[in-house]
Amino acid sequence: MSVSKIEVYPAAVLKRVASEVTEINGATQTLITNMVDTMKSAGGVGLAAPQVNVSKRVIVMEFSHYDERMQGLIVMINPEIVYAEGGMYQEEGCLSVPDFRAAIERSALVYARGIDGQGKIVEIEGRGIVAICLQHEIDHLNGVLFIDRLSEGQSSFFRKAKKIRKIKTT
Ligand code: NI
Repeated sequence: MSVSKIEVYPAAVLKRVASEVTEINGATQTLITNMVDTMKSAGGVGLAAPQVNVSKRVIVMEFSHYDERMQGLIVMINPEIVYAEGGMYQEEGCLSVPDFRAAIERSALVYARGIDGQGKIVEIEGRGIVAICLQHEIDHLNGVLFIDRLSEGQSSFFRKAKKIRKIKTT
């Protein structure tokens, strides 16, 4: 297992737009293995490369805890949302924003395309947790965290929550 430290808000790498992967090489494979190990060890459903301090467009996802029909790992390099429709609110969290969860507005159905670790095209159509995760992880590649999508009221709650936490730790 090669587990990395997960970058936590407000780390600068989480606000950066990640760069496209132009070649799948040994470094890409090492990054993918490391991301998968880190995601599993943290008990997450998805992870984006900036969360392990690598500003590259790579995401990994694993949904088998949620839906046993969705066994196996999904690796997407340079993922893009090709099509999205509808809307939903569902609570989500992020390994880079510990101890905070909130319901965010997301598209209900997402169709995404990318390249897997072997250089093959991967296409995923997902609803529910899959749609949320695709949008959440692709947001990470654009320097966007779910807390950037909070409503005004949620946002002030988040600021207060952070303040209380800071007071407790100093
Ligand atoms: Ni996240």
